[in-house]
Amino acid sequence: MVMRSHYCGQLRAAHEGETVQLCGWVQRRRDHGGVIFLDLRDRAGIAQVVFDPDAKESFELADRVRGEYVLKVTGRVRMRPEGTVNPDMDTGEVEVLGQEIELLNASETPPFQLDAWSDAGEDVRLRFRYLDLRRPEMQARLALRARTVSAIRRYYEAEGFIDVETPVLTRATPEGARDYLVPSRTHPGSFFALPQSPQLFKQLLMIGGLDRYYQIARCFRDEDLRADRQPEFTQLDVELSFTDEDEVMALTEAMLRQVFREVLEVELPEFPCLSWHEAMSRYGSDKPDLRNPLELVDVGDLMAKVEFKVFAGPAADPNGRVAALRAPGGGALSRKVIDDYTGFVAQYGARGLAYIKVNDRAAGTEGLQSPILKFLPEDVVSAVLDRVGAVDGDVVFFGADSFQVVSESLGALRNKLAKDLGLVAEGFAPCWVTRFPMFEKSREGNLTPIHHPFTAPACTPEELLAEPAKALSRAYDVVLNGYELGGGSIRIHREEMQRAVFEILNLGQEADVRFGFLLDALHYGCPPHGGIALGIDRLVMLMAGAPAIRDVIAFPKTQTASCLMTSAPSTVDAQQLRELHIRLRESGSKEGKDPA
Ligand code: AMO
Ligand code: AMP
Repeated sequence: MVMRSHYCGQLRAAHEGETVQLCGWVQRRRDHGGVIFLDLRDRAGIAQVVFDPDAKESFELADRVRGEYVLKVTGRVRMRPEGTVNPDMDTGEVEVLGQEIELLNASETPPFQLDAWSDAGEDVRLRFRYLDLRRPEMQARLALRARTVSAIRRYYEAEGFIDVETPVLTRATPEGARDYLVPSRTHPGSFFALPQSPQLFKQLLMIGGLDRYYQIARCFRDEDLRADRQPEFTQLDVELSFTDEDEVMALTEAMLRQVFREVLEVELPEFPCLSWHEAMSRYGSDKPDLRNPLELVDVGDLMAKVEFKVFAGPAADPNGRVAALRAPGGGALSRKVIDDYTGFVAQYGARGLAYIKVNDRAAGTEGLQSPILKFLPEDVVSAVLDRVGAVDGDVVFFGADSFQVVSESLGALRNKLAKDLGLVAEGFAPCWVTRFPMFEKSREGNLTPIHHPFTAPACTPEELLAEPAKALSRAYDVVLNGYELGGGSIRIHREEMQRAVFEILNLGQEADVRFGFLLDALHYGCPPHGGIALGIDRLVMLMAGAPAIRDVIAFPKTQTASCLMTSAPSTVDAQQLRELHIRLRESGSKEGKDPA
């Protein structure tokens, strides 16, 4: 039996006179001097239903319903009387004169009001996620997500890509995070790892001759969580054979263009392509937000000879950097705010934040305000201000330290300043970042891959082994509004090169244990190949204008990687542990003390 004739949110003036059956939840009940108004809500929106005392039975029932009761209502659509039309509601021209009402289910008073949800803390919303999901905003976000994924699938299918599923119970796939492990019952002491990405499987699919693969794949990473990170998340994963950077990037860009056009009716602008070095130099970030007009400007050449050691030192050091960041209109920033910024950049390792306020450039040194003027010759100050284009009312900040510290600290300040000064433009600003270094130094001083160890370097194995720290990779990231939306690379397809990378990473024998199946596969005619993966959650978050990826995931986890609704993760009973050959440490027992 079909219970309803229309969604509540569908009713329009064109339905006037029709008898309709609606099903939904009571958003609000109002008693207006003998007449009862119910706002009935469903997936599509809200309709106003009116009950008058003439229909005694339904009137009495309508009088008893409360918020979130579930009803089926039969009634006739009529135009709202003059003066009561609500232009803010899609259904605001009409109302339904209720004839019959059926109570399908009652509801307790919800722990937060659905139309005043913002007062509810996120913990409550996540614990009662099914109520939170009833809110039109959440409904719209999940619908947007579904339309986005559908548009993505249509694009790749039209381009001849084949959707292949890869295992979730697998071996570790290194993407730089910790693995989620699953104990094996049938192999005592052995564990599956949940995939951090389908990386190795998609490469093996290329060796398997699939040629063009894509998948909407769930990935699992046990890492520190932030607004744009979840322990399980979804990738659009793509791989193709006989290809190069240009083709992968062109396909990805065309896909994003089509998805934004179909789903949001937005034409994306050009995707500028920046080298990693240029991105770090100009924006202090490998994921620059190009809606932000501020740029870092190198001034080391001007500072090399000054007496101020704080600047002259890094200016003379090949690994050092001295850079300036002009904030238009920032001259009005108070001392307190500048002190706060100094504390802010300290989080990124900066040991200070020198600045020059430009009150009146025509007045020379007199027109400037700064704690460092006394250390700098006038012609240097003037050359710096010329280079950054400083005008009256600006403040210019300076960083002097290693290339990394200056870039990262001023890069973070660039984002903060633009937000604080309201300089971030509307809309979408995508870009590509390419020519990454192959490796970076970890805190312990080891080289670790910037992408993953299967990324091809832009040089020969001999050159790579000779100077690994200098090698560039054939990786590319796609960036949108300051978020790393996706990353990929051309892969290593010859064993010699793969072994060279493992050697640099000091994997030695371990490489054969962990990646023997890949090294074996490389013996059997591996085609040149490459691909990319995009974070679907991040993409939808940006498209929806949502503050966090939690807001575009139906049942997300908290910052501490738990689900407040189901209380996962949870303890399991002794029998289950025994079957899995697992004995837990005594809680509180110190490492090493308990019996092996
Ligand atoms: P990478 O590790 O860069 O590359 O991941 C690709 C994209 O996945 C998204 N992402 C995440 N989203 C939410 N929560 C997380 N914890 C999380 N981690 C990553 C990001 C990121 O850009 N196998 C390679 C891709 C390749 O080389 O083809 C990979 O996984 O949007
Ligand atoms: P000091 O000589 O330490 O009093 O510093 C003078 C000014 O230079 C202060 O405004 C400091 O914040 C700033 N400063 C100190 N070290 C650095 C640095 N490494 N980079 C940028 N500014 C700095």
